[in-house]
Amino acid sequence: MSAWFETVAVAQQRAKRRLPKSVYAALIAASEKGITVADNVEAFSELGFAPHVVGAVEKRELATTVMGQDISLPVIISPTGVQAVHPDGEVAVARAAAARGTAMGLSSFASKPIEDVIAANPKLFFQVYWLGGREAIAERVERARAAGAVGLIVTTDWTFSHGRDWGSPKIPEQMNLATILRLSPQAVTRPAWLWQWGKTLRPPNLRVPNQAPKGEPGPPFFAAYGEWMGTPPPTWEDIAWLRELWGGPFMLKGVMRVDDAKRAVDAGVSAISVSNHGGNNLDGTPAAIRALPAVADAVGDQIEVLLDGGIRRGSDVVKALALGARAVMIGRAYLWGLAAAGQPGVENVLDILRAGIDCALMGLGHGAVHDLSPDDIVVPPEFARALGVPASGGA
Ligand SMILES: Cc1cc2nc3c(=O)[nH]c(=O)nc-3n(C[C@H](O)[C@H](O)[C@H](O)COP(=O)(O)O)c2cc1C
Repeated sequence: MSAWFETVAVAQQRAKRRLPKSVYAALIAASEKGITVADNVEAFSELGFAPHVVGAVEKRELATTVMGQDISLPVIISPTGVQAVHPDGEVAVARAAAARGTAMGLSSFASKPIEDVIAANPKLFFQVYWLGGREAIAERVERARAAGAVGLIVTTDWTFSHGRDWGSPKIPEQMNLATILRLSPQAVTRPAWLWQWGKTLRPPNLRVPNQAPKGEPGPPFFAAYGEWMGTPPPTWEDIAWLRELWGGPFMLKGVMRVDDAKRAVDAGVSAISVSNHGGNNLDGTPAAIRALPAVADAVGDQIEVLLDGGIRRGSDVVKALALGARAVMIGRAYLWGLAAAGQPGVENVLDILRAGIDCALMGLGHGAVHDLSPDDIVVPPEFARALGVPASGGA
């Protein structure tokens, strides 16, 4: 069977077949009843296109910039802290993103040291969780700077909600012999996954190397998670402090409300991502794409507004751009590609998105992604949710 896949949905099916059940479940993630994760994807189906039939432009320009980085398509890699999907993990993702001319966010909870990932893709934004207080955060950020990170992504939309109606995967404390034996009934039914790790002669590394000084293995995932739960959540002053300390391109990820977007501007950020953490935070938060138009309207002329959540096709990217996003970030789509086929699988996903964006631009009669506007799409009444605006939801 060819490793190539035609759509992101096929990559997902392959990932499901290839990964042990608990590893696949960790990729699906989402919280509680799964209302938000479903809405993130389904909301895109409510949006339609208004195509032209004559006058298509022969060559379309997909390139843009995000936080000062040239990217060849308006899609970048969202940071995800998932271990054990593939032995090359974030390095494979970084190589794929570099090969396709785009940038990458690297999670605080990534399995590979930032220095190794930047060697594979210098267009790297380091993602920070508010973990351990200002001093510890400053140390990590300085390590990222020294490694050559070209931007910072700060993610604050996490409330430690974890109850799932379909059950949470049991993530082991560490991968020792006892754990491997315990997982073995799942793993033996997934020989391709097991063989990948067997070749490396080491089990999945459940440590977080970027939470420690360079060269150290880093704490186990759960120790870091526990410290995070015990850290007082950040204030707007903390965000402004970190922005000042960093001094370069700075994104606040997870903004859904107009009032928060304005505060982010006041705190000096250069970008935000309209996002609900892929449905992993408060279940019942509307789809990110529903919140985008009001946020983009309010602050889109002052900072870069991105969106993440639910992107599975190039046409989804085009819809997000038409509603005011500069670019989008993808999470599960590339994780499924990584699980299905390693680096080529992530490249495959980016190629699918590129081709889909290009087709949509052609159908809409545009020569460049910058030409997209709300006029290109059909937005049903009641589609959008303006959160954090007086006299509307969330005010
Ligand atoms: C398994 C998984 C792990 C994630 N880990 C992180 C993380 O470590 N840091 C972060 O900022 N966002 C994390 N996210 C959120 C993604 O960056 C992104 O917001 C989300 O996946 C976008 O939705 P999508 O998966 O529908 O594309 C994670 C998402 C998933 C699914």
